[in-house]
Amino acid sequence: SSQAKQQTHNPCPPHAVCIPYPAQGHINPMLKLAKLLHHKGFHITFINTEFNHRRLLKSQGHHSISGTPSFRFETIPDGLPPSEFDATQDIPALCHSILHNFLNPFRVLLAKLNPPVTCIVSDVGMGFTVKVAEELGIPDVFFNTASASGFMGYMQYPKLMENGLTPLKDTSYLTNGYLDTVIDWIPGMNGIRLKDLPSFIRTTEPSDIMIDFILDVAHNAHKASAIIFNTFNALEHDVLEGLSTMLPPIYTLGPLQSLLNQIPQNHLNTIGSSLWKEQHDCLPWLDSKEPDSVVYVNFGSITVMTSQQLIEFAWGLVNSKKTFLWVIRPDLVVGDSAILPPDFVNETKERGLLASWCPQEQVLNHPSVGGFLTHCGWNSTLESICSGVPMLCWPFFAEQQTNCWLCCKEWGIGMEINSDVKREEVESLITELMGGGEKGKEMKRKVTGWKKLGEEATASSVGPSYLDFEKVVNCVLKS
Ligand code: UDX
Repeated sequence: SSQAKQQTHNPCPPHAVCIPYPAQGHINPMLKLAKLLHHKGFHITFINTEFNHRRLLKSQGHHSISGTPSFRFETIPDGLPPSEFDATQDIPALCHSILHNFLNPFRVLLAKLNPPVTCIVSDVGMGFTVKVAEELGIPDVFFNTASASGFMGYMQYPKLMENGLTPLKDTSYLTNGYLDTVIDWIPGMNGIRLKDLPSFIRTTEPSDIMIDFILDVAHNAHKASAIIFNTFNALEHDVLEGLSTMLPPIYTLGPLQSLLNQIPQNHLNTIGSSLWKEQHDCLPWLDSKEPDSVVYVNFGSITVMTSQQLIEFAWGLVNSKKTFLWVIRPDLVVGDSAILPPDFVNETKERGLLASWCPQEQVLNHPSVGGFLTHCGWNSTLESICSGVPMLCWPFFAEQQTNCWLCCKEWGIGMEINSDVKREEVESLITELMGGGEKGKEMKRKVTGWKKLGEEATASSVGPSYLDFEKVVNCVLKS
């Protein structure tokens, strides 16, 4: 037919719809993946919630997210009542809404898009997309933006429930040593304890929304055309091997930023994804400091703490006598604005910089940064590895506990701070981290080794992550 002929002469480009879970730690890696796909000739539609889109307009400016003809932004509602604009959304409420309110707006939007959508790339947490992919007869590739080990932990939730290990009988199980129970059946995770598994098992609710959400994720994972991971083989080899026997084909593309660094500068570079406005004055401040001398402190986009915990961190930093850059999100302290003791402010004027949000990857890559006090979000963990920066770990929730276990027990690049944080421990661990002792020096050596393996994983034409990207593009997304 004449239409078919026209298509051979002027074929429609492949068109990928990219839909992240609507939170910072998921939007960032999805945007990277979208840019990589665009470079492979895909037309991209990137879907944010209306709420996050408005925040991006404010933090990034119109020019940055107005997109281009071949890289467009669209929105769907999040189905939640209006929340405070600059604050992190309520995660359980968001998960509940994703299970109930997202499918139809997503379906309606996709039907309108032009050129016709040829594939979906969706966060593993956005499994409702599979239904629309089936209706359209196109592949749906899932993207697990967190660690493979964290995902392996989630995949165990059905068995943990069957075996009666979660929900907990009562809250005494949180503190009576029960969470130290070793789980011996998980592939690639020898010696893992209940407390190292993704934190949503720590509930006493018979029908907890987060458990329901994870069960849905684990169930949907089997329906994906393929699953992409932002990690690399050397880092999580045994777990990846375990996952590959349990799931649709898996592709390991991390560290995504290293793949992205290989693309020549282009007009998409100015598209950013920070939901808060970044304070760039951190960088000239770091320029004025000695190599490896600054402790960088940042708890990501979701962590909250009590004002007492904030004060313990503050005095730990003061007493360590180290120079520090501390990012305190406006909503970091629960139900309160973060108020630091006046003495803290006076004592650290010369050697501390406070900010509310920063360009983290640039900060971590700055030669002055010698250590990272982190909540172990997967992006932060991977970015720290890529910059060769050892860590102090204070995991908050989700698979951050598992990432902490990886850093401290598997890779030897981190030390854990007790969840009931005390200033003395913060002080002594910072001293160790910043090269004060054998352990600190060893962590630095090891993280430098992992950094190098990450570079090798993405090496042009030969690295396993580089090759997996070619494969998932050619064999799944363009097929
Ligand atoms: C979390 C984690 O990914 C994960 O543990 C969990 O499943 C849910 O989401 P978050 O807590 O925000 O996200 O942490 P992280 O994964 O580290 O992502 C934060 C991102 O924001 C990183 O890419 C980091 O570079 C960026 N960031 C953070 C900034 O650019 N500036 C900042 O000041 C802080």
